[in-house]
Amino acid sequence: MAGARRLALCCAAAASIGVTAPALATLNTAAREAARDILFDRAKGNCLACHHLPTLVGAEQPGNSGPPLIAMQARFPDKRVLRAKIWDATASTPDSFMPPFGRHQILTEDEIDLVVEFIYGL
Ligand code: HEC
Repeated sequence: MAGARRLALCCAAAASIGVTAPALATLNTAAREAARDILFDRAKGNCLACHHLPTLVGAEQPGNSGPPLIAMQARFPDKRVLRAKIWDATASTPDSFMPPFGRHQILTEDEIDLVVEFIYGL
């Protein structure tokens, strides 16, 4: 299945550069909770509807229509590129059906910053 194949590739990429544990050290507990709420909340990010988050406890029933969110630092060395993707995925992938969270003001700029910091540790 395509999702599983993508996941396997991502894990292989993570292992090859020595990424073993999520690095969420930059966010305190309250900020991590807030970010997690945005990712899980259907009225907010709803990221789980489309993305597998393999390293996140509690994300057991994720969608797989988008790539798994894992090894983000390795795949997005420039954090601004990651932020731009979440702000408007269609800018880099014109036929993307990922909601343009910034352009359509689904999330505030601060919420996007928080989500970026959080998933950068996945
Ligand atoms: C309706 C489905 C959907 C939702 C909801 C969604 N995404 Fe996506 N996302 C996708 C699809 C499809 C892609 C692949 C196409 C693309 O790159 O735009 C993608 C790509 C991405 C990428 C690039 C991943 C890579 O490996 O290139 C990131 C990062 C991302 N999404 C983060 C998020 C975050 C964070 C949220 C929640 C705030 C979210 N997505 C919500 C469908 C979704």
